[in-house]
Amino acid sequence: MRFWIDDQQLEAQTSSTILEAALSAGIKIPTLCHHPALESYGSCRLCTVEIEKNGKKRFVTACNYPIEDGLVVRTATPAVLDIRRMIAELLLSRCPKEKQIQDLAREYGVIEPRFKLEEEKCILCGLCCRVCGEMVGVFAINFQNRGTDRSVGAPYGELSEDCIACGACSLVCPTSAISAQRNIFPLTAEDIIGIEEEHLSGERDVDLGVYSELFAARTEIQGQDGGVVTSLLARCLDKGVIDAAVVVYQRENNGGRAAAVDDIEGVIKAKGTKYVRVSALAPLIDALRGGKRRVAVVGTPCQIRVIRKLEQLDYFKDEFPDAEIFLVGLFCFESFDYRRLRDHAKGLLGIDIEDADKIQIAKGRYIATLDGMEHSCSVRELENDIREGCRFCGDLVSRLADISIGSVGSAEGYSSVIVRSEKGKKLLDWLSFCREKAVREDIVKLARMKRRNADRNLERIRKGVECSQSTKSP
Ligand code: FES
Repeated sequence: MRFWIDDQQLEAQTSSTILEAALSAGIKIPTLCHHPALESYGSCRLCTVEIEKNGKKRFVTACNYPIEDGLVVRTATPAVLDIRRMIAELLLSRCPKEKQIQDLAREYGVIEPRFKLEEEKCILCGLCCRVCGEMVGVFAINFQNRGTDRSVGAPYGELSEDCIACGACSLVCPTSAISAQRNIFPLTAEDIIGIEEEHLSGERDVDLGVYSELFAARTEIQGQDGGVVTSLLARCLDKGVIDAAVVVYQRENNGGRAAAVDDIEGVIKAKGTKYVRVSALAPLIDALRGGKRRVAVVGTPCQIRVIRKLEQLDYFKDEFPDAEIFLVGLFCFESFDYRRLRDHAKGLLGIDIEDADKIQIAKGRYIATLDGMEHSCSVRELENDIREGCRFCGDLVSRLADISIGSVGSAEGYSSVIVRSEKGKKLLDWLSFCREKAVREDIVKLARMKRRNADRNLERIRKGVECSQSTKSP
């Protein structure tokens, strides 16, 4: 294809958009709602250009208009600049305090907008919704309502049960709108440092987070590995250290269901790792609304992050001022989409994982034990069953929990325990257990691997932000 952009004759073998073609020719077109790694959306109209085809001229958005043979594109005619100026003025009327919008308006000579609109932070570019759905695969945030009532948020304005606090939405948001959200939980690097300083105590370890103790433990109760989580909760309930615990039960056809329990039987029934992601938020809030005041939550790193972010937003302080929440974090490399996993594993293992007495992941193998017999396959064979969001989580060891527990780093029949806070110590005080040395290097090796994978995936999002911003000037 042969085409012209701003009088430069260009050629392309494959189909691309005007924006892509202009970028590769070094011609800048400003964008706001475009992200190179996402489907074009065409909502902000800032990339408007003029095209000429068969002698007819019209305006199109460069981010989603395909290059055609013979197309003539003009990116900065007076009419195009007028359109962009009007867009900048409208955006400034809506978001007068947002730095990126102020800068944009200034570039187009808009100082004081003529229109008066209700002040907002969000420009409705939809980048957060698209990155959450298209890239992370979680769909925790989306558009709501229509017309002038259009906004972005978690469904029905409720606290999101799907958000994994990966922070991808905050990487792409061009304004401060995402950080003003209260129903989803984008956790930034600064948030993490703030949480560590406020809640955790001990040495800061680059790979394992802040902690004061790391050891391997074995208890009397036969649970997963050393039975530490089950024993810890049972003892703390028995001694009145906690009033309730949020745990996950095996549930037919669905893999897991989180629920708050206040008796030892309930805790024991929930023993064993489920390797599925379920939200612990609803049962926690129900327990607090039901009058429980000291509640332990057992959760994967993403569940722990969500609760920490809510603490940081003062949600619990405002709603339940006298509540005390203990966070018992699990080691988690990845979780699975249960239905996909169940169907797939049946073929690979020859048994229905729903019938298994115990499921564990060890040394790269997924192992289901049934009637004393182990049935296993490589975790890599289950790669397509991993939940999409897990690829964006770089936390193996629940770095923000009060106490973290997992099998990596300890011998068979033991659990590795990482104590991170005074609350973590308080829970542990009541536990009787055999103590051994944990192998820190084994945990670090896996923690680094998970972090590297997540960093690589988040980098794709970050790079997109840089590309998008580098096309800002008209
Ligand atoms: Fe093209 Fe927004 S419409 S960047």
